Amino acid sequence: MSVTIVVGSQWGDEAKAKIVDYLAADAEYVVRFQGGANAGHTVIVKGKEFIFHLIPAGIMYPEKICIIGNGVVVDPVALMDEIEELKKRGIDVEGRLFISQKAHLVMPYHKMLDQASEKHKGKNSIGTTGRGIGPAYRDKAARVGIRIVDLLNRDVFREKLQTNIRDANEFLTKIYGNEPLKVDEIVDAYIEFDRKIDPYVTDISVLLHDAYKNGKNILFEGAQGALLDIDHGTYPYVTSSNTIAGAACIGTGIGPTYVDEVIGVMKAYTTRVGNGPFPTELEGEFAEKIREMGGEYGATTGRPRRCGWFDGVIAQYSSRINGLSSLAITKLDVLDSLQEIKVCTGYRYGDRILTNFPVDCDVLDSIEPVYETHPGWMKPTTNIRRYEDLPEKAKSYLARISELTDTPVAFVSVGSDREQTIRA
Ligand code: IMO
Ligand code: MG
Repeated sequence: MSVTIVVGSQWGDEAKAKIVDYLAADAEYVVRFQGGANAGHTVIVKGKEFIFHLIPAGIMYPEKICIIGNGVVVDPVALMDEIEELKKRGIDVEGRLFISQKAHLVMPYHKMLDQASEKHKGKNSIGTTGRGIGPAYRDKAARVGIRIVDLLNRDVFREKLQTNIRDANEFLTKIYGNEPLKVDEIVDAYIEFDRKIDPYVTDISVLLHDAYKNGKNILFEGAQGALLDIDHGTYPYVTSSNTIAGAACIGTGIGPTYVDEVIGVMKAYTTRVGNGPFPTELEGEFAEKIREMGGEYGATTGRPRRCGWFDGVIAQYSSRINGLSSLAITKLDVLDSLQEIKVCTGYRYGDRILTNFPVDCDVLDSIEPVYETHPGWMKPTTNIRRYEDLPEKAKSYLARISELTDTPVAFVSVGSDREQTIRA
């Protein structure tokens, strides 16, 4: 029996789902615990690509039980689309997809408010995915959110919805200059969702507790990444949930004493999508080259991702705040043709070198990354399946990452397919 948490350890898009899919072979339960349809989790099996936004990547295996925890904000439209899409492609979720009664719903006004607020912020926008994530978590914190359990009592649901739409309409019309939303249309649509969602809804804390007591292997699938965490990330350029390993307990209702392992997924370089500080960001032709080689375009929004060198400062920070027990280094193959590869080992700030990640975005804007240069291995790695067969220079690069983070490398990914995964 083991309980393992897989988390993104940079700014999201670390290829977490690829690692979750690989590890899911040995798990009985795969669980999402935070975020929402802002996530874009891509799994490629034998050349076929699947992109998940809300459903755990473990659904690819016919017998796995998949859970959406209370910490996730659930957009029923996105969820139903995802279920339908999977069905069309021969993957049936019936009887093995479960959703927490306590999960909050993402409503149409959350998405509208997210998009309108971003537009309103202009150059100060966060660059959100526009999926209503911030407004949904805001309502949750303000104690006016609507939970899945509320769908069960139609009168209460209608009343809560009416109040929320009235408030949302104030913002939409008076501040953002949008059209108001109509209550009845939304109530009718959501009552329809109630009927559809009903078979999946349960107390997932009980489900997971029983699974644990029965010695099952449980795998938690994080979304986003440590630097997008609302407390520990580059605030305000973050998402609205806690994305670090600790959130797995809160987002599902299990205790920290259950957890055996935390695997941090990191790309062999760094990317970020959306606005905010990115110390090792590259510009121009070279960034373009990495973007093309790595296929660095968002799985949810299609936006080109910002690309840069591996940042040892954020990696070490991430290892600390997640309590990482091991690393999964992904997309190593993207660096195969580079003559030289840089790694950031500290930030120069005035006459000091910072090795602890600074809190203040203004500090981050005025630091200069300190780099060391590693020779590239200049050999293809995509067909390698054993760690010892990796080029020596690639192994030294990985060893340096492990040293900087004080965390062993357990997995290396050399391509997007399930099979292109190496156990170190
Ligand atoms: P996965 O799980 C990368 C980013 C957005 C934006 C910020 C806030 O695929 O790694 P939000 O819509 O959450 O309010 O946007 O967070 N962001 C992600 N970046 N991968 C993700 O998910 C992300 N989810 C949100 O680009 O900068
Ligand atoms: Mg993504």
